[in-house]
Amino acid sequence: MNKQLLMRRYEVLGKSAPLFYDEPLELVRGEGVWVYDASGRRFLDTYNNVPHVGHCHPHVVAALTAQASTFNSHTRYLHENIVGYVERLTAKFADSLSMAMLTCTGSEANELALRMARQHTGAQGIIVTSCAYHGNTEAVAELGTAFMPEARTTQRVLAFPPPCSYRIPVGASADSLADFYAAEVAKAVATFSQRGLGVAGILICPEFANEGLVMEPPGFIEKAVDCVRAAGGLYIADEVQGGFGRTGEHWWSHQHAGVIPDIVTLGKPMGNGHPLAGVVARADLIEAFGDWGMYFNTFAGNPVSCAVGNAVLDVLEQEDLLSNAVTVGHYIAERLDALQAKYSIIGDVRHKGLFFGVELVSDQDSKQPASVSAMRVVNEMCRKGVLISRIGLHDNVLKMRPPMSFTHEHADILLETLDHCLADL
Ligand SMILES: Cc1ncc(COP(=O)(O)O)c(C=O)c1O
Repeated sequence: MNKQLLMRRYEVLGKSAPLFYDEPLELVRGEGVWVYDASGRRFLDTYNNVPHVGHCHPHVVAALTAQASTFNSHTRYLHENIVGYVERLTAKFADSLSMAMLTCTGSEANELALRMARQHTGAQGIIVTSCAYHGNTEAVAELGTAFMPEARTTQRVLAFPPPCSYRIPVGASADSLADFYAAEVAKAVATFSQRGLGVAGILICPEFANEGLVMEPPGFIEKAVDCVRAAGGLYIADEVQGGFGRTGEHWWSHQHAGVIPDIVTLGKPMGNGHPLAGVVARADLIEAFGDWGMYFNTFAGNPVSCAVGNAVLDVLEQEDLLSNAVTVGHYIAERLDALQAKYSIIGDVRHKGLFFGVELVSDQDSKQPASVSAMRVVNEMCRKGVLISRIGLHDNVLKMRPPMSFTHEHADILLETLDHCLADL
């Protein structure tokens, strides 16, 4: 480890700027699913969804370079890249989601979605899960009810428990779970009404990524959204992690539940590492928001960013990466199930496309979270050359979410390494 660089980083960025792993990595190069540290050692990247179509994909790099050496500015001029990209992007959504606004980050996209929902409904209340993370602006930090300071005092955000099918809450049963969690959403709606705030919307990541990729009971999303809409609120789907085919079969993770959102927010994979994010929404919402107040974002969706966004779509389509997410995803899930049969510490295996959550528990019956073991596995995997992370309310869910070009051969490396690390616990 480069201790000198670490100390210099502490001096200028502070010790609380997060770093992965006990021994932080100094990564200097990436190619496809591989990243290389300063000593030339290569690591299999099973964690990063930002380089969605692979690190430094040549088609994306070429598009970026070509546009950057031709012209770049902001979005206040006509430019084919901008219009063409948004046309192509919105065509991938349901007909009702026909307009977009571009931003630089997922946080900005969620901030815009909150403003739009509050402006449209005239209400203030937003409902989220109790383990949500939707970003870092002041209004969006209020949504992080588990750990963000702004969430402690806000009156305009209420949380319901992550709709988990693995841990059945007290008072619920396996076959009434969807109703149980929907009733929690209904309670939040009623509380906002008592507070005189009304409900502006429910904002969820439809694959519940930060919640530990929990599998929601079938029918829950429909029931929850119906309840919010009946009270005048909107459905905002945060696709910052689940979008662009991550979950396989569909382009957007909200499509799995079959409920069309009013607003969708996008980010991370959209620019393969370039800061490109945005909101896709009903045309009437975007038009009304624009009439209400001007929105301009200097860097968002500039000609270079849109060239990159277009190139990411090209690669996803030309390399058929959604199908790859389905086939390789199933292969990994089956092998994770086999590991679950072998190691009692694995309480639950969850997957959607190329996104996996492996929940570690110290006891199968009590489902006591094995958070320390999860931390050890993540660090040991890194030492053995495979990058993963952990997530969830107890940080006991191993999180694997590789670039979409991950193959069966890469999967074998991941699974053999995980097998060794679990054996060593
Ligand atoms: C679900 C979700 N939404 C929004 C964000 C915020 O995105 P950004 O860091 O680009 O602001 C994140 C970031 O981790 C996220 O996981």
